[in-house]
Amino acid sequence: MQVTKTVEETRALVKAWKREGKTVGLVPTMGYLHEGHASLIKKCREENDIVVVSVFVNPTQFGPNEDLEAYPRDFQRDSALCESLGADLIFHPEPEDMYVNPCAYVSIDTLSENLCGKTRPIHFKGVCTVVSKLFHIVAPDRAYFGQKDAQQLAIIKKMVQDLNFDIQIVGCPIIREADGLAKSSRNTYLNPEERRAALCLSRAVKKGQEIIAKGIDSETVLKEMRAVIETEPLAKIDYVSVVDALTMQDVEKVDRDVLVAMAVYIGKTRLIDNFSYEV
Ligand code: PAF
Repeated sequence: MQVTKTVEETRALVKAWKREGKTVGLVPTMGYLHEGHASLIKKCREENDIVVVSVFVNPTQFGPNEDLEAYPRDFQRDSALCESLGADLIFHPEPEDMYVNPCAYVSIDTLSENLCGKTRPIHFKGVCTVVSKLFHIVAPDRAYFGQKDAQQLAIIKKMVQDLNFDIQIVGCPIIREADGLAKSSRNTYLNPEERRAALCLSRAVKKGQEIIAKGIDSETVLKEMRAVIETEPLAKIDYVSVVDALTMQDVEKVDRDVLVAMAVYIGKTRLIDNFSYEV
């Protein structure tokens, strides 16, 4: 497995692989890899000749009071995991190499305004910009994203369609701890009491899955899910919403494919979880 730091050396390697007729898959990450990332890398390994993992904590997707500095980092561990999963290349650039007095950004309307976009107004502009840059640098045939960040996945699919990237976007299921908590690099922020409290998210997902049905009012589903979260004193709801699976706009009734998504603060840590329902 190789590790590159610069855009130029990454492009040169990928071009050489492509000249040999090899297919290239990309798994974009911010590092501190867990089993959720491992599942993306495994799927990428199955479907492509070459597996590229990017490890880059992208500053442009963090708001001014967010956790950019505190975001966990452990490149040695990430590198060992990627190697064990058969990755061919880790692209691990420095922020100064990725952003040189940038003036051009990629942003997306409508889909980025609801859900996490309400609390994190610049987040998806940063995500779309860095993902576009990675797509131009690596030029993969396929790119892999987790369903845990369901709004991000919907946005990237739409961006690829609208901007005609010739890349197949592959969404992969949420990976959970044995007790139900969705795997996230941010789970490391939780102390033992918060870790226990964080289970209210997956419990709310379970409750929502039990009661959701075609034609039901969204409010009925949301009321029951909020009640589960509100039993937990350490939890503070940011949002719980039922949205159209494609547009990310709130729906009153479950009369189409929907995403039921939530963000909840457990102490200072903001966690997300969701499930999809197809009518
Ligand atoms: O999902 C993430 O880890 C990030 O948002 C991504 C897609 C790697 C872009 O920085």
